[in-house]
Amino acid sequence: MDRVYLNGRFLPREEACVPVTDRGLLFGDSVYEVIPAYAGVPFRAEQHLDRLQRSLDAIRLRNPMSRPEWLEMIDALCSDCPTHDQSIYIRVTRGAYPTRAHRPPDPVKPTVIAFVTPIRERAPRIAREGIRVITMTGIRWHRCDIKTTNLLANVLAQAEALEKQADDAIFLRNGSAREGTASNLFIALDGLLITPPNSDELLPGITRDLVLELAADAGIAHAEASISEEDLRRAEEIWLTSSTREIAPVVSLDGKPVGDGTPGPKWRYMDQLFQAAKQRIRLEALEKRKQ
Ligand code: PDD
Repeated sequence: MDRVYLNGRFLPREEACVPVTDRGLLFGDSVYEVIPAYAGVPFRAEQHLDRLQRSLDAIRLRNPMSRPEWLEMIDALCSDCPTHDQSIYIRVTRGAYPTRAHRPPDPVKPTVIAFVTPIRERAPRIAREGIRVITMTGIRWHRCDIKTTNLLANVLAQAEALEKQADDAIFLRNGSAREGTASNLFIALDGLLITPPNSDELLPGITRDLVLELAADAGIAHAEASISEEDLRRAEEIWLTSSTREIAPVVSLDGKPVGDGTPGPKWRYMDQLFQAAKQRIRLEALEKRKQ
């Protein structure tokens, strides 16, 4: 069933309405999460809910739901579609008020919205051919670590990529590569797998953390270090990671081939580790449910 969770109720999608004065709409005064679910089982939900809590804290908005309430709601949405892979979109806004005022209201009545969208299985084209990416100046704000719904810069970057027949863009800021428009960045260079350290210049990705864990477990030399534009252009492999895209190999950067212009062997290996981890984590979650 295609239903939406809105402030404590599950409603048919066409009946789920938010007032036009909601601060999420008027000011982008809201944060969000995107949690993947594989065959009905949410993936790393606790880590996503931890990040949601950090985003709420950062925008000084009280979490309107307890952890068990969040998990119950997520499970309910997942159970609508137990066989397909989907992503759960969650948004918490500072609520709707009769007047439009920048000043945060008191008391606050947050709006909570959640719904699922099917995750397109990673297109075979991506594993076969990889993705083409352009670089552009990061025009996002100075708190990219908060998962806010203010995504205009990201949307414009995607539009520019599309215009240049590319699949995505990597943001450069002060001479360093930070992240993709909706993904984190890894490069393989001189025997090291490198991703930029968490800071207010990028979103601390849940997929990024998993890739780092897998690299550590598999004994792959890795580092959290800033990636200069020069290193990006010298990289043997470039990957973009996210909850909906998993690990995407970049085969061309600003029209020039990355490595030999095909998904590289390090990506292939990491992707195998990632797929195995997905299976393992899913089985562990199913086991836990039975207890
Ligand atoms: N975006 N950086 C940005 C700017 C992002 O928007 C995302 C995810 C990531 C990767 O984070 P994670 O691995 O936790 O998904 C990094 C989601 C998928 C979205 O906006 O739809």
